[in-house]
Amino acid sequence: MSLENPVKRLFMTLTQGVYVVGVVDDGRYNAFTASSVMQVSLQPPMLALAVNPGNASYPLLIAGGIFAVTVLQSDQAALADRFGNLSAKDDDKLAGVAWHDSVSGAPVLDEGLSYFDCRVISKLPAGDHVVILAEVTGGEFLQPRGRPLRYDELGDLDGSNELLPDRLGD
Ligand SMILES: Cc1cc2nc3c(=O)[nH]c(=O)nc-3n(C[C@H](O)[C@H](O)[C@H](O)COP(=O)(O)O)c2cc1C
Repeated sequence: MSLENPVKRLFMTLTQGVYVVGVVDDGRYNAFTASSVMQVSLQPPMLALAVNPGNASYPLLIAGGIFAVTVLQSDQAALADRFGNLSAKDDDKLAGVAWHDSVSGAPVLDEGLSYFDCRVISKLPAGDHVVILAEVTGGEFLQPRGRPLRYDELGDLDGSNELLPDRLGD
């Protein structure tokens, strides 16, 4: 895929994975694709996640206070597309996909490489996203081996070529 935006190409040099973040509140489940997930603390183990507050998942994540990060495998671009280009506003994305509750109760995709169970500690506004800081309360491998999918392998699946400015510093 040709990417015209030089700032998009620049950001694609940041190595990121591709994840499906499962949320639940009061029996309402949903999940969305996220590439903005990173490890931020060792003791205790913590993750940061950047979420667009316009996502249908956002109020469930905040009200439920927990989420589960399923790490996608290298051949699972179709799952990244399903959970990242459909919204719970229109579709039940978890229908037809094998999933189970994590220990915390958030949905985990059975076919992922691994998952992390997380508890929200705090949140910080960050431009058009909100950064969620979370303690990792559990997690395990779901498959004995496999390679994680990388964000740069997905081209412009998230449409960020259009959303990013085409030059920096203005
Ligand atoms: C490859 C990819 C990466 C994405 N990364 C993020 C992300 O890090 N944070 C986010 O809030 N949305 C991200 N999105 C967008 C959401 O997955 C998308 O808006 C989704 O439809 C939200 O679903 P929901 O409305 O059911 O919560 C990404 C989408 C794709 C395709």
